[in-house]
Amino acid sequence: MPTTLVVGGGLIGTAVAWRLAQRGQHVTVVAGDPGQAASGVAAGMLAPLTESAFTETALLALNLDSLRRWETFAEELERVSGLPSGLHRTPTLSVAGGTDDAARLRDLGRWLDDRGHPCRWLTSRELRGAEPLLGPSVRGGLLVERDWSCDNRRLWTALRVAAERLGVRTVTGTVLAVEHEDGRATGVRTEDGQLLAADEVVIASGAWAGGHGLPFELPVRPVKGQVLRLSAGRLPRLAHTVRAFTQGSEVYLVPRSDGEVVVGATVEEQGFDARVTAGGVYELLRDARQVVPVTAEYELSECRVGWRPATPDNAPVLGPTPLAGLTVGVGMYRNGVLLTPLVADVLAGWVDDAHLEPVATPFTLERFAS
Ligand code: GLY
Repeated sequence: MPTTLVVGGGLIGTAVAWRLAQRGQHVTVVAGDPGQAASGVAAGMLAPLTESAFTETALLALNLDSLRRWETFAEELERVSGLPSGLHRTPTLSVAGGTDDAARLRDLGRWLDDRGHPCRWLTSRELRGAEPLLGPSVRGGLLVERDWSCDNRRLWTALRVAAERLGVRTVTGTVLAVEHEDGRATGVRTEDGQLLAADEVVIASGAWAGGHGLPFELPVRPVKGQVLRLSAGRLPRLAHTVRAFTQGSEVYLVPRSDGEVVVGATVEEQGFDARVTAGGVYELLRDARQVVPVTAEYELSECRVGWRPATPDNAPVLGPTPLAGLTVGVGMYRNGVLLTPLVADVLAGWVDDAHLEPVATPFTLERFAS
């Protein structure tokens, strides 16, 4: 039975381990501190359309492909784990706080429309009809029915249970180096001196992916995000995910089924700075209140920092590397939860069968070679 080590125990690493175990592989996950992983901090938007940026056409296609996999992925995971997947089919409202913000959103709507993804423009009155909790400053916005969300903490638990049930083993450790011989990966060495051998190694360690002493450059850097969690309690609850552009800044509010609302996120090039700052929290709460005034009455239950794994072109790095037997699934940047089903399928297919799905070919490490 082939043995595979997966470096990283977050959503991507656990999902890859689960898929490989389904194919009959003997899999060990080497997980760092789960309290640091973006998988537990993220808001969990499954939002290929409202997260898209002009010009990122290939990335949009990848993200949409993963969204198409989401429902069957969630159903299968719920069946085998006996736990909720966290999938929440709430539509998204992408709203504008000012005239410039509205113009920008209309442009995005047209760009998506031209690519066959119609989004409906709603006036401020129509928006408040759909979502009565929106504040009076909202000028108009896009209704995107299929930009959903997922409670990523529930998803993570279900994935761990599904993987464990198929015999996936987890060891805790920080991987200092990937061991290799004659151009082939042979295992990993951890900070506490463990040497773990395997036929195949998969790097799925998010923002930490650049730190495993690889014999080539893996261009992944951490982009800090401060994220808050509010509890509605008995107060009125949002029925949509709301993303708002207001005077140049951006905030999103992602409701959970239990009344929690995730509010995010700052975007900071601060390396692995772990501080929750007064300014970061202030701006998120200020913008959230502007767009959905009742949030000022909600309980502030959590303030956390996560690190998005970013690459020079904002797109993931998937598949083979210059070392035989070493595969990467990193650089999901703002779309890690969305991309989990696709990346798990793609990497399992590559590691187990040497087949790289065509959707992944524009996203291999080779694109950075020049
Ligand atoms: N996907 C949202 C964020 O990265 O903040």
